[in-house]
Amino acid sequence: MSTRPEAEIAALIAEMAQHDIAYHQNDAPTISDADYDALRRRLNAFAALYPDLVPQTVGAAPASGFAKHQHLVPMLSLDNAFDETEFAEFLTGARRFLRLAEDQPLAMMGEPKIDGLSISLTYEHGRLVKGATRGDGGVGEDVTANLRRLPAIPLRLKGDAPARIEIRGEIFLTKADFEQLNQAQESAKQRPFANPRNAAAGSLRQLDPSITAQRPLSLFAYAMGDCSEPVATSHHEYLDRLRAWGFEVNPRSTLLPDFAAAVRFQSDLAAERAMLAYDIDGVVYKIDDLALQNRLGFAGRAPRWAIAWKFPAEQATSILERIEIQVGRTGALTPVAHIAPVNVGGVLVSRASLHNEDELARKNVMIGDTVIVQRAGDVIPQILGPVLEKRPVTAKPFVFPTHCPICGSLALRTKDEVVRRCTGGLTCPAQAVERLVHLTSRPAFDIEGFGEKTVQEFWDAGLIKAPADIFHLAPHESAIAAREGWGPLSARKLIEAINQRRKIPLARFIYALGIRRIGEQIAKLLAKHYGSFAHWRAEMQAATIIGSDARFALGNIMGIGPGIAEELADFFMEDHNRQSVDDLAAELAIEDAPKIAEGTLSGKIIVFTGSLATMSRPEAKARAEALGARVTESVSAKTNFVVLGADAGSKAKRAAELGVQTLSETEWRSLAGFEGEEG
Ligand code: IVH
Repeated sequence: MSTRPEAEIAALIAEMAQHDIAYHQNDAPTISDADYDALRRRLNAFAALYPDLVPQTVGAAPASGFAKHQHLVPMLSLDNAFDETEFAEFLTGARRFLRLAEDQPLAMMGEPKIDGLSISLTYEHGRLVKGATRGDGGVGEDVTANLRRLPAIPLRLKGDAPARIEIRGEIFLTKADFEQLNQAQESAKQRPFANPRNAAAGSLRQLDPSITAQRPLSLFAYAMGDCSEPVATSHHEYLDRLRAWGFEVNPRSTLLPDFAAAVRFQSDLAAERAMLAYDIDGVVYKIDDLALQNRLGFAGRAPRWAIAWKFPAEQATSILERIEIQVGRTGALTPVAHIAPVNVGGVLVSRASLHNEDELARKNVMIGDTVIVQRAGDVIPQILGPVLEKRPVTAKPFVFPTHCPICGSLALRTKDEVVRRCTGGLTCPAQAVERLVHLTSRPAFDIEGFGEKTVQEFWDAGLIKAPADIFHLAPHESAIAAREGWGPLSARKLIEAINQRRKIPLARFIYALGIRRIGEQIAKLLAKHYGSFAHWRAEMQAATIIGSDARFALGNIMGIGPGIAEELADFFMEDHNRQSVDDLAAELAIEDAPKIAEGTLSGKIIVFTGSLATMSRPEAKARAEALGARVTESVSAKTNFVVLGADAGSKAKRAAELGVQTLSETEWRSLAGFEGEEG
């Protein structure tokens, strides 16, 4: 018997993949950065011991539903300069490389640098044929269908166009569009995006192009990839052609004759920055003459003919007036700094995150301190630290509470977690209200008209304390009708809306409980695995015992992993949680989930070859194994199926020679029960 930890590694990879999806695709992280780093460190430790069991790409590029696109000309990045000296070094370096004399001119284009998402658009005979994200620079994602839906992207180039040209530019959201999108997210009870970049990425990388079409994405075109014939001799001429073809080019792009002009441009833009309609983090300078660009070429991952001169991060100082501890749905205690309102790069800031207890200690800030506030790309500003010379004698250290400021329960830090959590569970009003809001939200019970305001109102009035209370509201209908802002009609409608949701699919029910780290995807996996509420409930209780079969089985469900298993076990360990789940279930008809039969592929030997477009190799392997199959590397007469991805090579040939059954990716998905799994 092998003692290699294959199952554990597969589970870890699957767990990280879930977090990657949550972070990269849904732009809604399900885990703190520190916790994610801990998972990665564990994986790295495994990789050192068992290099053959850990694929090199885990977590680097999120698995997605998009086909891969190989860039003909790699999409590279830019070197950075952070001050005038570094910028001067870039120019002298270029001059030296070209052997230009001091008095020979070297004009540049200066272009505001927007922190968005770079894309590549391929036009053949003037028609858009392909659009792709940058990806890792070599291979991106084919997002043609989504890009076609954006008014900012011409489907046809106006006027003369070369036989083939690849145009590159930045997809972004203006500050106003970002605000509006986040407001819409909040009213749809979806998590707001952390910054315009995430929002742009999240909007473009939608599997449903009609969602992308609703997002107000903008594009500035600024570069060329592959081209069948020369279209310009200078970058500014190329930008003019882009405009003529129908693209928007940043109107602040300016031809600068020399170093002094560039330095002036940099400070002009720094001053304008707050007034611009979009966020910029610096200026990109490009040598204008394309023949010179060509001679300069590339060094490593960046061109020698361009540089990004970054602005210093927007900072300001203010007085730290107090630190408030917020308690979230999962009981996490988060310190929030309240500062005297201060303008940071055009935005009035009065609150900033201090992340957690350790960060707070590391930053060594005291109440009354003058603190440095910074707005990086993110919407939530950060406190960098105190200005120690300005610390008043009256400054008071902040003692992190050991008890929940809302309910007074003990707040604990477990193991190596950075977060301190209230142990009050649903008896803690902060957690209870947040959890009830989550419970009624769209992806959970989806109770029409039962939003945050109503939850808070009913909570304050003592009408609801626990989840099941929502389904006990009927006898209070007239009391609700008599409340301010209500009436018989709206009370009736609410009760009806609640009754409509007494029937609920198991996956939604599990998600609705708001257990930490149990997002929609994990809830679906659990529902599918356990099938019925009764089975799930019994297994969760059994899984509270460390070392039990139930616990082991739970941690081995593909996509779950030991970390999430522990989270579920912790939840079911608590009497009041079990009580609240059972009380709620008693009010409902919980529908069974269609189960994929375990052992569907029992005893079968499967070989995967080529690259799969819709899932990573580890995911495919884990699913095959979960269904009872063995996955091997080479094709033999004993092989039952060979799953053919794109560019399948010798293994496909060998399968044909041996008469082994081959499956397309679609056939594999349906065999393995992936169909019907949303996203
Ligand atoms: S040119 C080989 N021009 O900055 C040069 N990039 O740090 C390719 N960016 O990935 C880039 N504004 O996402 C270029 N005017 C501009 C840009 C720009 C923003 C972004 C782009 C790129 C990143 C490199």
